[in-house]
Formats: sequence, structure tokens, C-alpha cells
Amino acid sequence: MPRPSPSELRILRRHKAIGAEVRGIDLGRPLSAADRAAIAQAWCEHLLLIFPDQPISDAQQVAFARQFGQLEIHPSKAHRSSRHPEIYRVANVDEAGSILPPSGEAWRYLNITWLWHSDSSFRDVPSNGSILHGIEITDEGGETLFCNLQAAYDALPEATKRRIAGARARHSHDTVLSRGQALEHSGKYDELKPVWHPLVRRHPVTGRASLFLSPHSTDLVEGLSAEASRVLLDELNAFAAQDRFVYPHKWTKDDVIMWDNRATMHMVTPYDNARLRRIMHRTTLRGDGPVLAA
Ligand code: OGA
Ligand code: MN
Repeated sequence: MPRPSPSELRILRRHKAIGAEVRGIDLGRPLSAADRAAIAQAWCEHLLLIFPDQPISDAQQVAFARQFGQLEIHPSKAHRSSRHPEIYRVANVDEAGSILPPSGEAWRYLNITWLWHSDSSFRDVPSNGSILHGIEITDEGGETLFCNLQAAYDALPEATKRRIAGARARHSHDTVLSRGQALEHSGKYDELKPVWHPLVRRHPVTGRASLFLSPHSTDLVEGLSAEASRVLLDELNAFAAQDRFVYPHKWTKDDVIMWDNRATMHMVTPYDNARLRRIMHRTTLRGDGPVLAA
């Protein structure tokens, strides 16, 4: 019987705020049990894994993601890949290769990724994590900023930690739509009811506490007026978005990034979407259960 070859997997810290780079692995092939376990552990520890130089197909991306759980189908029908509904196309280019008209609904919806958010926070069971493949990238803007919400929580003043202990915030896909310019709540999106999640959550694997912020979908804190909610959420968002908690990722073609939505938020920096092409394909890992309060 052939012996399994020793794993070449290497995990290298890359930035002080968050994340590690993973070398010595081909995401286009099924993972060994040992490599799968090492990636799962590093993912929960570093919250963000960068796999450089992975020219995978959509089918390979879906197969890679499925090794870490079930996949979500994105609520925006227009952004699902026609061949693989599990692929969410974060692209200013349509499947036929044309740049999306900047005034059209498809682009205006994607434009919301320029705001800080945590993927699928608007679901009653939010996503565990996302896996994003950079297919066409741009050098001018279009970086992705990743914020470590565990480090941000740890650094909060004790008085703020006491103020938000036990608090819950309302997340809603309709709030996401309201952030975009005149997006219609029509049949273009799956219907999703507003949900309440703890503002401070506990990671189900590591037990670590983090803020649970997703500014693009959150509008209310339980027990506070709309105005007071806005003030508190803006204060927490601004605190977390400080440079010391954020890693800006400058993409190289065929980077694959796997991040943990349970303890991070992210946003895209602006780029000239009317002129430059940027195509990213995402698979999204379903959550295991309701968000745990810390
Ligand atoms: C996402 C997203 C990031 C990017 O895929 O969830 O917000 O870099 N996009 O396009
Ligand atoms: Mn996102």
C-alpha cells in the first residue's frame, strides 16, 4: 500500500493584526485528514488564512469549501453563479464578461461590500466563514480590509465592556438594502426576517470573546432608541476599525482567502468600478447554530 507522503503544509504569520499564510498545499485536490485538521485549527486560531497561487476552478472551490461544512446560497439571486449556485460572484463584471453599469441594481448591491460587514450576519444562523478566490484583481484600490474583532474586544475600555455586556443588536438584510442607493426590496432577494444577535459573542471552537459587528446590517441595540443605538454602534465600529486591528490585503491573482465570520469583519476599499475589472468568487460556510453570547 502506498504510504501517504509527509505533509508540506506550512503556516506563516504575516501581519500583526490578524491572519496567516498557508503554503505547501494544493486546494484543487482533496485534503488529507491531517491537512484538513491543521487548516481548521489554524483558521480558528488566526481567523484568516491566505493561500497564495491557487488557480482553482469554481467546482474545485466548492469541493474545497465542502470539506469544512455545508454551504450557503446567497440571498441575492443576480449574484449567484449560473453554473454553481453556491458561488457568490463578488464582481463588477457579469458572466458574459461585461462591466456592470454603475447605475444598475447589480452593481449598487455589490457596492455595499465597501462598507464594513460580517457575511450573513443577517441570518438567524450567521455564516461560520467565507472563502474568496481572487480571479481578476486590480492594483488601484480593491484591497480587502480584515478586522480582528477578538483583539478589538480585548482592547475595549472596561467601562465599555460593562456597558455592552449582555446587549443584543438587530441585523437585517433589509438594512443592507437600505444602505445601498435606492435598492428595491423586490423578488430579487430571498426574504429574510430581522434577527437579534449578541453584541459580544463567544467563539464556539476557541471560546474567545469578540465583538459581533456588521455595520452594513445593524441598526438597533435592544433597549435603546434608534438615535442612541446609532451612537453606540458607531462608537464600537470606529474603535474596531482602528489600524491596529486591521490587515489590508492587497490581492495577487489566485489568492484564496478563508476567513472566520465569527470573529472578524471586512470591507473592500473603493476602486474605479466603471473602468477596472475585479472578479472574486465566494463560497460561504453555513453556521452550526445560533450565535453564542460571551
Ligand atoms: C465578500 C466581500 C470582499 C472582496 O466576498 O464577502 O465582502 O474583496 N468581498 O470582494
Ligand atoms: Mn463580505
